[in-house]
Amino acid sequence: MGLVSQSSTTECEFDIEFRGVTKRFDDIVAVDDISLGVERGAFFSFLGPSGCGKTTSLRLIAGFDQPTEGKVFIGGESVVGVPSHKRPVNMVFQQYALFPHMNVNENIGYGLRQRRPKPAKQEVLKRVDETLEMVRLSGYGKRRVWELSGGQQQRIALARALINRPTCLLLDEPLAALDRKLRREMQIELQTLQRDVGITFILVTHDQEEALSMSDNICIMREGKIIQSGSPRKLYDEPVNKYVADFVGKTNFFNGEVVESTDVTVSVKSDSGQVLTGMLIKGATAPANKSKASVAVRPEMISISAADATNNSANIAIQGRVLNRIFLGEHSEYLITTEGFGDVLVLSPKSIESNNQGFAPGDNVSISWKPDAALVLGDT
Ligand SMILES: Nc1ncnc2c1ncn2[C@@H]1O[C@H](COP(=O)(O)OP(=O)(O)O)[C@@H](O)[C@H]1O
Ligand SMILES: [Mg+2]
Repeated sequence: MGLVSQSSTTECEFDIEFRGVTKRFDDIVAVDDISLGVERGAFFSFLGPSGCGKTTSLRLIAGFDQPTEGKVFIGGESVVGVPSHKRPVNMVFQQYALFPHMNVNENIGYGLRQRRPKPAKQEVLKRVDETLEMVRLSGYGKRRVWELSGGQQQRIALARALINRPTCLLLDEPLAALDRKLRREMQIELQTLQRDVGITFILVTHDQEEALSMSDNICIMREGKIIQSGSPRKLYDEPVNKYVADFVGKTNFFNGEVVESTDVTVSVKSDSGQVLTGMLIKGATAPANKSKASVAVRPEMISISAADATNNSANIAIQGRVLNRIFLGEHSEYLITTEGFGDVLVLSPKSIESNNQGFAPGDNVSISWKPDAALVLGDT
């Protein structure tokens, strides 16, 4: 009876977990009391502007830095005091840091060859071949790394991390050095690779499109704090504040002062005296009267009609004039200037424009949206 280990039978939900983690560098609070959990096998991203603490968060997982307060758990175990080479994670850096004097095989096998006891040569070769196949570069082993394209070098960097068979791969802006087209290709490759190998990926990026298109879950950071985390859809549809709405996708903000609120709606008055109403996010408390708030409407939720056309009275409508139209194939992007609320971006699908050719700069128009398409958001 006494031989049964209790801890080994504990079911653990998270592969990576932060509990109240803070990291200070002298006066700088790089990571400020963060708690989060990343599920096993998930594609998770830290998203935020430069300096918000993304790299530091990864380094705390990798063990290159230690928390000033709080604990990091990997696979349900606290990793306090566990050195980085004993953690089942591997990091792929912003600069790939491949060894230029080594060929592809040597670069990928480097980590294994450093292990003590040193694995047999045949074993290293076998693992290198397997890993090359994983990143679809079989046959490239003898090439010099400088002979390879940016995308191939990226895959070598991934292979070098994957050969250690980590349970979690940490990726610090791994695509930042690539041009736009290659970046898109690599995003798809990374997603495919993650599904194939089935391990947890934690990506750091300041590129919202990248985070949105790749991740199961995103954690949006600002100044060392988590502002909101959730699925891309949740962050897009239910941002908790203006910062998140602005970071995730494009949004129009109609700024003003709160003049009235109910349990579900808030009305905001612009400087010019126009009043707009937005819905409160589920569970949010209404901002106080007279405080600053914004009504946020996504560009694709707005429709345009001729100024003199009769409008569906259930919708919220404001008058404006077309400043610019950019034809983008499937849809057109309009910039409409309004009197009370500044310039408004509208994404109009081709399907609803086909009968009237859309609108031209100078046209007077009415823009409108359904009441539930407008969210009221505070600044913080
Ligand atoms: N080793 C360090 N010493 C002092 N300050 C640091 C160190 N590493 C990071 N910082 C500071 O911590 C903050 C967060 O940095 P970082 O995690 O690199 O941000 P991000 O990766 O989001 O750009 C920044 O203000 C940065 O200057
Ligand atoms: Mg960074």
